[in-house]
Amino acid sequence: MTLLVCNATLINADETLQADMLVEGETIRAIGGSLAAPPEADVLDASGCFITPGGVDPHCHFDLPMFGTVSSDDHYTGHKAAAFGGTTTVMDFVPLPPEGIKTGLGAWREKTQKAAIDYSFHMNLTHFDEQVAAEIPWLAGQGIMTLKVFTAYNGRLRLEDASIFRVLQIARQHGMLVMAHCENGDVIETLVEQALAARHAEPIWHARTRPAWGAVESSLRMAAMAAQADSPVYIVHMNAAGEADMLAYARQRGVKVMGETCPQYLFFTENHLQQPDGAKWICSPPMRTSADNTRLWQALADGTIQTVGTDHCPFFFDGTQPIEYEGQPVAIPGKELGAADFTKIPNGLPGVQDRLPVLWTYGVRAGRISPNQFVALTSANPARIFGLYPRKGTLQVGSDADFVIWDAEKRVKYGRAHSQQRTDYNLYEGWELVGYPRQVYLRGSCIVDDGTWLGRAGGGQFLKRGVGQVL
Ligand code: URP
Ligand code: ZN
Ligand code: ZN
Repeated sequence: MTLLVCNATLINADETLQADMLVEGETIRAIGGSLAAPPEADVLDASGCFITPGGVDPHCHFDLPMFGTVSSDDHYTGHKAAAFGGTTTVMDFVPLPPEGIKTGLGAWREKTQKAAIDYSFHMNLTHFDEQVAAEIPWLAGQGIMTLKVFTAYNGRLRLEDASIFRVLQIARQHGMLVMAHCENGDVIETLVEQALAARHAEPIWHARTRPAWGAVESSLRMAAMAAQADSPVYIVHMNAAGEADMLAYARQRGVKVMGETCPQYLFFTENHLQQPDGAKWICSPPMRTSADNTRLWQALADGTIQTVGTDHCPFFFDGTQPIEYEGQPVAIPGKELGAADFTKIPNGLPGVQDRLPVLWTYGVRAGRISPNQFVALTSANPARIFGLYPRKGTLQVGSDADFVIWDAEKRVKYGRAHSQQRTDYNLYEGWELVGYPRQVYLRGSCIVDDGTWLGRAGGGQFLKRGVGQVL
């Protein structure tokens, strides 16, 4: 198929230009002024619209078993939701079973038979032994260049510092990148024990037992270990002002440390956990204060933090009540599992569809970041860091024709009615959005057209990644 998009305002991370864009098959073939349409071409007039590269979300959890249930979007529904919000590439995390990396990856590849957009994986390293050490280079050969480690969730997901340091050393040898979940597991375990002994059950105790200082010291600890291993590190879901300060401190000293935050840490605070429906906002690490929101926005604007992912890990608020999804009733146990005990509320929330529309209105239109920074943070930088650039993350000749045509002035009262995320709530219910995806293209095919789904299960491709850039 040949498509000429004309009269467009193209927004890349480094420039904005008025141009036409010619797509042939799956690829962008030409960008320039007044391109002539070949006779067979479809022509799409994008006057009044702006066009961005498809979003790249580096942090999702689809079909993830947790707390006796499973995150409620799988590799079809979550991909579809992502597409409706303008994201065309997602990366999710492969759990590590006792049998090792190869077994874990095999199971996860099965799940992605139904992928609807392009995707890649990160490997969770939740135990470390000589077998795991030996399998890491094999993983790089599969094009999976990223390893997630945790400094929290004692006895379940956490690695000791000695193991994390070894992982950093091995990653360096193979051009891989370590991603780190930074909280203080020992402090959390102690505070949780004390809170439960005092019979505290409410969602706010989730935040009170996971203090921001744990994330702050753990982020600096991770940066320090990365410096000592001379290996890059990427700190996921940064939630606290102090983490941004630590990132700035380490980066000013030449440490190869990068950071990600998520919309929930820019817009919400611990106060949301105090609401009657506070469980909807439970995720780890938790939301903090409005001062933390402000500092994180500043860190995005000044380049201290490189990406905005979502940590999309949705659960139903009330998983006993079915919702309708593609004409079928669906109910998946969710936050109600922790009605009497905050430690049993599944950690995580929806966001893969919401990320770009809410950031456009409340980031770009609100003057907090420029349109080019929006593209850098949500598409180009994730593509660069995770070894997908310039195939993804940019509108360039030779790149995959993944792009979003935004109706710049469209007003949407956002919420569940617009959301394809397979859960029974939306964190941004009732928010006024200005600017919304009109069409979304994946490798030259329109997969969302004015609210109509044209994609399909199996339409997404696995992306074998190369060595990423340190930004
Ligand atoms: O609450 C969260 N973030 N759930 C997903 C797991 C993780 O640590 O990213
Ligand atoms: Zn995490
Ligand atoms: Zn996560």
